[in-house]
Amino acid sequence: MKTYIVGNWKLNFTVGEASIYLHKILKTLPNYRDVDVVVAPSLIALQPLSLQIDRHKVKLAAQNAFYRDYGAFTGEVSFSQLRGLVDYAIIGHSERRYILREDDKMVAKKVAAAIRNRITPILCIGETESERAFGETADVIRDQLIGGLSEVADDDLDNVIIAYEPVWAISSSKSAKIATPDEVAEVVKLIRKVIADTYGKDLAEKVPVLFGGSVNTSNAGAYLTVPGVNGLLIGGASLILSEFVDIIETAKRVRS
Ligand code: 13P
Repeated sequence: MKTYIVGNWKLNFTVGEASIYLHKILKTLPNYRDVDVVVAPSLIALQPLSLQIDRHKVKLAAQNAFYRDYGAFTGEVSFSQLRGLVDYAIIGHSERRYILREDDKMVAKKVAAAIRNRITPILCIGETESERAFGETADVIRDQLIGGLSEVADDDLDNVIIAYEPVWAISSSKSAKIATPDEVAEVVKLIRKVIADTYGKDLAEKVPVLFGGSVNTSNAGAYLTVPGVNGLLIGGASLILSEFVDIIETAKRVRS
C-alpha cells in the first residue's frame, strides 16, 4: 500500500507565502512514487497553487468544503467547485468539530459530497482528552467512524482515507501530549476492526489509515512503523520546509 504524507497548513500563509513555500517543496523533493505527498493550503490558495503544482510530486487537498453542490449558502465553497482542483479533502478535523460545531451528520454529508465529486475524503476521527480519561475512546472512534461513513455507498468505501488524530495530541491543543506508538497501534487496530465488522475484512485491510498529532522529524519514523499505519497527517511540522521534507524522506526510507 502507498504511504501518505499530508501537510495540513490550517489557517497559515498568505496566498503569496503559500506559493513560495510550495515552490520550495517542489524544488527540494524528488519524485517519490510510493509516497503520496499532499498539502492542504487555505481554500483561497487552491486555485493559484493548482496552476503551479507538479502533481507527480505533490497533490492538493482542501481543508474543508460544503456538502451541497450549489445554491443559497452564503460564504460556502462546494466540493463541486473544487472538483479538478484538488485530489483530496480533509473532512471532520477536530478543529471543525469542536470550534465550528460540525457533527457526524454534517461530516457524513461532506464525505459523500467529496466522493460524488471525485475527491478522496480524509475522514478525521479522534477522542478528546476527557473522553480518553473516562474510557470512552473506543465508543467515540466507533461513532465517528460509522457516523462519518454513513452516507457512503459500499462500492465507494475504497475511496476513503481515515486519519486518526487524538485531539489531546494535536500540538495546538492546550495540554498537547505525545501519543505513544502503542496507544496509536491500539486505536488503529480498533479502526480496522470496526470497518471489518461493518463492511467486511477486505475493505478493512485496504483502507489507508493515517496518524496525526504532534508528528515531527524525531517521531515520524516510529509512527510510520506502527502496524496498520499508512501515513501521517501533519500540522505544525508541515509548515517548516526542512521538517516536512525530512518526514517525507523518513517515509520513503521506512517504507522501502
Ligand atoms: P500538529 O501536527 O500541529 O499536532 O497538527 C496535527 C493536525 O491537526 C493535522 O491535521
